[in-house]
Amino acid sequence: MTVSSNIPLAPHSAPRSRLFLPILAGGAAAGTFDITSAFITFGWGAACRGVAGGLLGPAALRGGIGTWLLGLFLHFTIATTIAAVYCITSRRLIFLREHFFVCGLFYGMAAWLVMNLIVLPLSAYHVRGPYQLHAMIQGIEVHMFLIGLPISYINSKLSSSGGPVRGLTGVNTKRMTGIACVLFLAVSAGYAAETVQYPDDFPRWVHVSTGVVLAGADSRLMREEGMHHIFANAKAAEGYPTGNFPDGSIIVYELREIEQKDGVIRESQRKRVDVMIKDSAQYKDTGGWRFERFWGNDQTQDALHGSGTTCFACHSKANTHGSVFSQLR
Ligand code: HEC
Repeated sequence: MTVSSNIPLAPHSAPRSRLFLPILAGGAAAGTFDITSAFITFGWGAACRGVAGGLLGPAALRGGIGTWLLGLFLHFTIATTIAAVYCITSRRLIFLREHFFVCGLFYGMAAWLVMNLIVLPLSAYHVRGPYQLHAMIQGIEVHMFLIGLPISYINSKLSSSGGPVRGLTGVNTKRMTGIACVLFLAVSAGYAAETVQYPDDFPRWVHVSTGVVLAGADSRLMREEGMHHIFANAKAAEGYPTGNFPDGSIIVYELREIEQKDGVIRESQRKRVDVMIKDSAQYKDTGGWRFERFWGNDQTQDALHGSGTTCFACHSKANTHGSVFSQLR
């Protein structure tokens, strides 16, 4: 008597769903799309050397072909890691396969957040804001459509083997979409706040100068009464001697109350913080500077809401020194 060969397979010996193929294919697709967009935005040379710089430091931007190849390798390693996290998670969270479109887009956004809030600050660049709105939107979109979506699509197509799936299935689509929308709003709100570029470490920058405007000394200077300090970040300090301030320059004017006691004038409560940030492409109309004003100790509300035209109307008088009045001693 022979055993029939078409006895159904026991569930535990069902073919396992594929994992490595979707990881490799998803990583390759996302990596290729993303680096192509980086070539278009940053140029052939800078895109890969820029990635290598995450490991080697900004000097990598002047590196040779070896640095370029290292950057390309690192880039695809990161893309494959991002694909692996999605594919492995989708073994348990089946809705990542069932609703690949929505999930892929949100996964791309999550990948952008992880890269910008965790990986880049830890990298050799140590970057941590300020974020420029246009670069941020472009970054998030690239991650959603060129990284998250290809990974989730390939995973949904290549991973299923017809075997039984165990894990979280039959997720309520409406609830999923609701959760996704709330997440989206939370992330957007967080980032809308993040685009206010408050330079929180400025007291440790280069001290440009300090001035005191005494109460009642000049009615035109009433709003400036107190003690003010001007601080420049490293880029701005470079620009001071010539008045050619490179993009990324930040200058802070901090105004504080003064108190007099026993013949000594000291600073006390902070009244406000005025900020100038150089980005010549984005703020063409105001001499290449973004102007911001923060009242008291607030760090989140830019009182100017992005329009620095009244500030510039006066600062443009310093046009022979890049719209900056103060001089570095
Ligand atoms: C009426 C003219 C005037 C207006 C309006 C004005 N500023 Fe200024 N600002 C000055 C002068 C003058 C200085 C130099 C103060 C000093 O050297 O002690 C200065 C200094 C600064 C500095 C330090 C860099 C520099 O130029 O020396 C910043 C930052 C700044 N202002 C931001 C602002 C912002 C933001 C606004 C708008 C909310 C603004 N300013 C509006 C006249 C003006």
